[in-house]
Amino acid sequence: MTHIKVNVDGTPYEDEVEPRLLLAHYLRDRLGLTGTPIGCDTSNCGACTVELDGTTVKSCSVLAVQADGSTVTTVQGLAKDGEWTALQHAFHERHGLQCGYCTPGMIMAARDLLRENPHPTSDEVREALEGNLCRCTGYQNIVRAVLAAAGQQDGPGRQDASGRQVGEEVTA
Ligand code: FES
Ligand code: FES
Repeated sequence: MTHIKVNVDGTPYEDEVEPRLLLAHYLRDRLGLTGTPIGCDTSNCGACTVELDGTTVKSCSVLAVQADGSTVTTVQGLAKDGEWTALQHAFHERHGLQCGYCTPGMIMAARDLLRENPHPTSDEVREALEGNLCRCTGYQNIVRAVLAAAGQQDGPGRQDASGRQVGEEVTA
C-alpha cells in the first residue's frame, strides 16, 4: 500500500491505496464522489474527466498514487455555495444532456476549453469535445450549451421563421 495526500474539491484527504488503484475508482469508491462516472475504463469515453493540478485528465487513465500531493477538481467541486457555474446553467437551459452520464466529463472538458479559448467557434467546441462521447444527444445541444456559456449565440440549428439565426445569451 502507498500513502497519498490529495486535495479533492477543496477537501484534503490522506489514504493508503494500492499502487494499481485508478484515480476514478479512488474518487468514487473511496471518497464517495460518484458524480464522476466511469463509462468505459479504457480512456475512450471521457465520462470520468476531472482536473488534476489544473490539467484536464481522464481519471480512469491516472493512478491514484500519481495524484499524490495534487489538487483534483471534479464536477462536484464546481458549484460554489450551491450556485452552479455558467456552464452548468447553460447545459441545463440548453438541454445539453439526456441521461446525463456523459455530462460531468463534458462539463469538465468544456471548462478547460473556455479557459484556453473564451470565445470558441462551434467547430472549436466540437474539436475540444472530441474525446468525450455522448450516446443520447447527438451533440448539437451540448455545443449550443458551451457556446451559450461563452456568451455567444446558440450556434447552428436554431432559426426564426425567416431563417435567421437566433439565440439568447446565458448570463447566469
Ligand atoms: S471511463 Fe474514463 S474515459 Fe471512459
Ligand atoms: S446524455 Fe446520455 S450519454 Fe450523453
